[in-house]
Amino acid sequence: MTLLEAEALTVTFGQAAAVVRVVDGLGFALAPGRTLGVVGESGCGKSMAALAVMGLLPVGARAGGALRFDGEDLLAMSEAGRRRLRGRRMAMIFQEPMTALNPVVPVGVQIAEMLVVHEGARETAARQRAIALLERVGIAEPATRAAAYPHQLSGGMRQRVMIAMAIACRPSLLIADEPTTALDVSVQAQILDLLLELQRDEGMAMLFISHNLGVISEIADEIMVMYAGRVAEHGPAQSVLAAPLHPYTRGLIATLPDPARRKPVLPTIAGTVPDPRWRAAGCAFHPRCPDATAECAATLPTPRERAPRRFAACLHA
Ligand SMILES: Nc1ncnc2c1ncn2[C@@H]1O[C@H](COP(=O)(O)OP(=O)(O)OP(=O)(O)O)[C@@H](O)[C@H]1O
Ligand code: SF4
Ligand SMILES: [Mg+2]
Repeated sequence: MTLLEAEALTVTFGQAAAVVRVVDGLGFALAPGRTLGVVGESGCGKSMAALAVMGLLPVGARAGGALRFDGEDLLAMSEAGRRRLRGRRMAMIFQEPMTALNPVVPVGVQIAEMLVVHEGARETAARQRAIALLERVGIAEPATRAAAYPHQLSGGMRQRVMIAMAIACRPSLLIADEPTTALDVSVQAQILDLLLELQRDEGMAMLFISHNLGVISEIADEIMVMYAGRVAEHGPAQSVLAAPLHPYTRGLIATLPDPARRKPVLPTIAGTVPDPRWRAAGCAFHPRCPDATAECAATLPTPRERAPRRFAACLHA
């Protein structure tokens, strides 16, 4: 069974000759209760793909291809329909909770509002449930904290509040876009643990986005590696990490900290991500790829199944 399915998903800016494809032919399927980890360097289109799923693309961006959620065609749905899904059936948490939280409303009231708006809960019952949710996400003295304004809380606590808001209506899909990137390493680990626990208890599916393969490897059942708006590699997490098929995935793995030395072997992959406005012909990774041949500069590789459930877009995988 599939909860969320993308087929040839594109996100474009601009029109006609000036069109820029920042997501270009993405395909994936996410089953209920599973976690798909999406990894790739800055600018490869991870957030745009997530915002397309939520129906929250910025002005000027257009989604194309197909997106289905629980059998419904998301791209054909009215804005009212999308709004009904958001919050109730699918929710998203971001890197910086301050941008999603209202600075002048106590956090308990903001969580309660979710329940009033989406479930028609009564005010007093909603306030009580908000306190229970704060406790659920590991906030001590939740009744007191419910009266706090976002700026009175630490970054980690604000992230917990945003998670409480996201899970308030028990969505079947949670999208987490770099939810731990802005936090200290110890707090990062706590938030990851919380998300894993909530997912297990609530049975949510999760689309977890990070530029950090180390974080992805701790949380994902499946990994999709993106490069320049496309899928480079996709498969079960263990197998992608143990036996990567795509040179870009191998490069990302080489940048992971060596547990013995606790330092990255190579801090980054040499070279930079191509600007989506000036994408070369052939494989987008070829200027940086250690395995590139002349063919790679001319032929665009598409994701092909190389082994059961193992997809890679590489001419030489
Ligand atoms: N308003 C816009 N107009 C044109 N291009 C845009 C706009 N917003 C984003 N882009 C481009 O879309 C591409 C994908 O951006 P996106 O935010 O999805 O990347 P990302 O993978 O989430 O990166 P990061 O890891 O930095 O969050 C980038 O190349 C970016 O420059
Ligand atoms: S197609 Fe060629 S350039 Fe692209 S990843 Fe494979 S070997 Fe490297
Ligand atoms: Mg992003």
